[in-house]
Amino acid sequence: MSYENLTTKKEENIGWIIIDRPEKLNALNANTIKELHRAFLLFEEDPDVKAIILTGSGEKAFIAGADISELAELDFAAGKEYAAEGQELTILIENLKKPVVAAINGYALGGGTELALACHVRIASESAKMGQPEVKLGLIPGFGGPQRLARLVGKGKAMELILSGRIIDANESCEIGLVNKVVPPGDLLSTCVNLVKEIINNGPLALEYAIEAINKGMEQVLDGGLLLEAELFGKACSSEDSKEGTKAFLEKRKANFKGS
Ligand code: COA
Repeated sequence: MSYENLTTKKEENIGWIIIDRPEKLNALNANTIKELHRAFLLFEEDPDVKAIILTGSGEKAFIAGADISELAELDFAAGKEYAAEGQELTILIENLKKPVVAAINGYALGGGTELALACHVRIASESAKMGQPEVKLGLIPGFGGPQRLARLVGKGKAMELILSGRIIDANESCEIGLVNKVVPPGDLLSTCVNLVKEIINNGPLALEYAIEAINKGMEQVLDGGLLLEAELFGKACSSEDSKEGTKAFLEKRKANFKGS
């Protein structure tokens, strides 16, 4: 599959999605959003791909936000639809059946922070800069930022960041829990690859159920989350993978998971 604004590749069961508009700091225009949707769906269906790394091309940016030249044209109806399309992409990423790691290699602003928020784990380069500067344009974040940022870093910090539009560096992003880890720029991709390799050694179905248990559980009161968790735990128990995983432990060997 070839794309205008993305590069994708598969290496050692990892699907790479690289946003490739470095001359526009990988800003998300409508076509890039469509292409991202397609790329994530294709990797989700691809049995050779066990996890995905999302990053930006070039030295400067992960994603410098939605494409401001397109935002300038929107009225109420088109703006609502634009936000809905961006949100659909973030929902797809967040609920993907395979783990998605964001390798944040520079500016992750506006929609860039929002896409990173939808990923399951975020690793940032020391050069990363994050934030929701939409209010500076007279806009608000519309790809899920107000919802996911508040859930991840708390309402108070989300209010501060979204209302000020302040851009924060990688260390502050890590201190507030917006990213999981900060590494030197040269170590970013290898850190992500090592993490992904650690993750994909585990049972694929267990990873899928764990993502669902956390994502859906977070949206419910504790009792509802626990019920869902028990249901998913039961499904995991009835999988071939759990028989293989527990047997392999008892036989002191590495498990050979099939994802069934
Ligand atoms: N949408 C469209 N184009 C963008 C963009 C965006 N979100 N962010 C950067 N670009 C473009 C610039 O217009 C410029 O294009 P040009 O060379 O054709 O003029 C190119 O990318 C390089 O950006 P530039 O501003 O020259 O780089 P810089 O290093 O001086 O500044 C930023 C980097 C990220 C601070 C600055 O580009 C910026 O503030 N971008 C907008 C961030 C934003 O508000 N995002 C949220 C949008 S809702």
